[in-house]
Amino acid sequence: MKIRLPASLGLALPIIQGPFGGGLSTVTLTAAVTNAGGMGSYGAHMLEPDEIQQVTDGIRRETNGPFVMNLWVDSEDKRSREADADAFHREAAKLTDVYGRCGVALPTFPRRQPVDFERQAEAILKARPPVLSFVFGIPSKEILSQCRKLGIVTMGAATTLDEALAIEAAGVDIVIATGFEAGGHRPSFLRPAADSLHGTLALVRQVVESVRIPVVAAGGIADAVGVAAALSLGASAVQVGTAFLACEESGAAPVHRRMLFRSSARHTRLSDRVTGRLARFIVTSTLEALDSHDLTQLGYPVQGELTRSLKTVEDGLFYAGQGAPLLRHHTAAELTRDLASLIR
Ligand SMILES: Cc1cc2nc3c(=O)[nH]c(=O)nc-3n(C[C@H](O)[C@H](O)[C@H](O)COP(=O)(O)O)c2cc1C
Repeated sequence: MKIRLPASLGLALPIIQGPFGGGLSTVTLTAAVTNAGGMGSYGAHMLEPDEIQQVTDGIRRETNGPFVMNLWVDSEDKRSREADADAFHREAAKLTDVYGRCGVALPTFPRRQPVDFERQAEAILKARPPVLSFVFGIPSKEILSQCRKLGIVTMGAATTLDEALAIEAAGVDIVIATGFEAGGHRPSFLRPAADSLHGTLALVRQVVESVRIPVVAAGGIADAVGVAAALSLGASAVQVGTAFLACEESGAAPVHRRMLFRSSARHTRLSDRVTGRLARFIVTSTLEALDSHDLTQLGYPVQGELTRSLKTVEDGLFYAGQGAPLLRHHTAAELTRDLASLIR
């Protein structure tokens, strides 16, 4: 099989650990995957520029191999910018029963503003990680050409064929074709996410047939057979999220990691109620309650502050992809080696 990722990366295995935003990435997980021969990623979309530098330095201290820093090109909905404390507390009051059942206090209006993408991109250009990956759009021509000059490989996520073509046309090095089986947010940027629900099998094949740049397959891949299948479709590598999130090195709460291995993870659903943007979660009674409430959407990221405390409690809100029932490994090195076991 042809592994066509840039040779400059020196990647031993075509296995990329998907980045996790919202505090779920760790330097330890990123470095562990890279040290096992794959490529670790760090979700940095909530970090200030100086934190981006610190994390990049931290990963470099733990590994000499390739790694990815990840940003969201668009991380604030218009509705969220306009949401005020009154609107927030009105929505929180509607969920009083849910907070009560989970034993958490009503949240208060967030003070922290999303960090400006341009400032984060500047920090990336300064920190010079081997790879910058991004979701929810495409960085400007200037940023992409600076990356090229500095030798930073770029990877953009596509949820449709049109998005993949736009990513290629912009001069991005690699496209990540992300099927709707995936855990985390649906990072669509041309059409609404709810109208961009292509499965990995269909999407990867279409993208491979239509672009010349290397394609990474993501969504629902959680074992060696899945990896081999993705490479058979013509993908150059895979990006695996949920299976790495379940490893002990990830930043997920212990209750979240436990849930990923339970039979309840057999049933996941896309919902926009948790953060204001469509993302996949285990169906728990908390998610069902949230989905049934008449919430006025506050938009991302303010909506997410309504539910943040529900992500670390029993029967709470847990991100998961459809591949969860295949999970077996608890450490990143074991998982990386196993994922690659049929392609060596
Ligand atoms: C909890 C969670 C958070 C995620 N956050 C990000 C993110 O910030 N940026 C990104 O590019 N992808 C993010 N992803 C997507 C993963 O990087 C990866 O593409 C996806 O999980 C692959 O599908 P899988 O979960 O079925 O393996 C996230 C996934 C999960 C499960």
